[in-house]
Amino acid sequence: MEKILEVKDLKVSFQTYGGQVQAVRGVSFDLHKGETLAIVGESGSGKSVTAQTLMKLIPMPPGKITGGQIMFNGEDIVKKTDKAMEKIRGKEMSMIFQDPMTSLNPTMKIGTQIMEGLIKHQKMAKADAKKRAIELLKLVGIPMPERRVNQYPHEFSGGMRQRAMIAIALAADPKLLIADEPTTALDVTIQAQILELMKALQGKLDTSIIFITHDLGVVANVADRVAVMYAGQIVEIGTVDEIFYDPRHPYTWGLLASMPSLENNDHDELAAIPGTPPDLTNPPVGDAFAARNKYALAIDYEEEPPMFQISETHFAKTWLLHPDAPNVEPPEAVQKRIRSLSSNFEKPVLVKEGK
Ligand SMILES: Nc1ncnc2c1ncn2[C@@H]1O[C@H](COP(=O)(O)OP(=O)(O)O)[C@@H](O)[C@H]1O
Ligand SMILES: [Mg+2]
Repeated sequence: MEKILEVKDLKVSFQTYGGQVQAVRGVSFDLHKGETLAIVGESGSGKSVTAQTLMKLIPMPPGKITGGQIMFNGEDIVKKTDKAMEKIRGKEMSMIFQDPMTSLNPTMKIGTQIMEGLIKHQKMAKADAKKRAIELLKLVGIPMPERRVNQYPHEFSGGMRQRAMIAIALAADPKLLIADEPTTALDVTIQAQILELMKALQGKLDTSIIFITHDLGVVANVADRVAVMYAGQIVEIGTVDEIFYDPRHPYTWGLLASMPSLENNDHDELAAIPGTPPDLTNPPVGDAFAARNKYALAIDYEEEPPMFQISETHFAKTWLLHPDAPNVEPPEAVQKRIRSLSSNFEKPVLVKEGK
């Protein structure tokens, strides 16, 4: 399959009063045409900085790309000037943010905001752009698009604004769509609808999608592959099935165990991962997860583990995969979770959760 994006050993830091925050510490992944990759991990793990760096949207300074490559369309984004990025952003790559109100222009009609991209990037005539704007509103499931196209953001509900954002992002027919926690601000029913929409769009368009969330529960329904991030690094990456049914990194086990489930509505039982992520101004020596890992080995405190390969598509960065490491099975809670997932996999977990 055609690769549209290849990120190689990407490193991003921020200069702060407290020192240099190493937000992204050597991230590598690729993305194929039409594929959806989910990036999951606790808050602060570097998901947003990674995503924003792909579009060069991090503030520089204080931010700085200190290493690596972002190959997109055969060219390195890292080397592009601001001017060159302006041509790529919104045309080749678009981003959907968590809160549409911060990115929609409140003084401009929704239709006009969609038309802007069409006129600017696709060089459409105004009348054609309006027609296409109505089609896009229809595509994202907005009823009465002919009327809605002339309305302002405040006349739209939260869920409809999120849909309008998606329509704007799709206007330029981007090769890459990045959605950073696009549903977190919405109630669970609307979240499920937006996720369904993203999935349907993925089937209709050959846009590649990077979907960012802290909630592993939503991933199964939208993603082809999942990258798990911790402390600025990808610690495990694989297909949805590999991550949910054959997780290898203890951090992924922790995420799975703390995920709400259908039969387990007793939130006391949710095993949140004990401890907190490390200070990224001074990342620990060895495996950054060691201090929170009850399966940590002596070497975890001395040397950073490499990425071990489990299958053609599955990799994990834990010393537990070294041939000389003791054989450690996922904890019983995780095994139980994996068994229960296999019976619920196709159902939208979130909707049921909210009831
Ligand atoms: N503008 C900034 N200045 C300083 N530190 C930042 C800035 N933006 C992000 N960071 C830091 O980078 C790290 C990763 O943040 P982020 O990518 O937003 O995490 P996530 O999206 O996974 O919650 C955090 O430690 C955060 O505090
Ligand atoms: Mg974020």
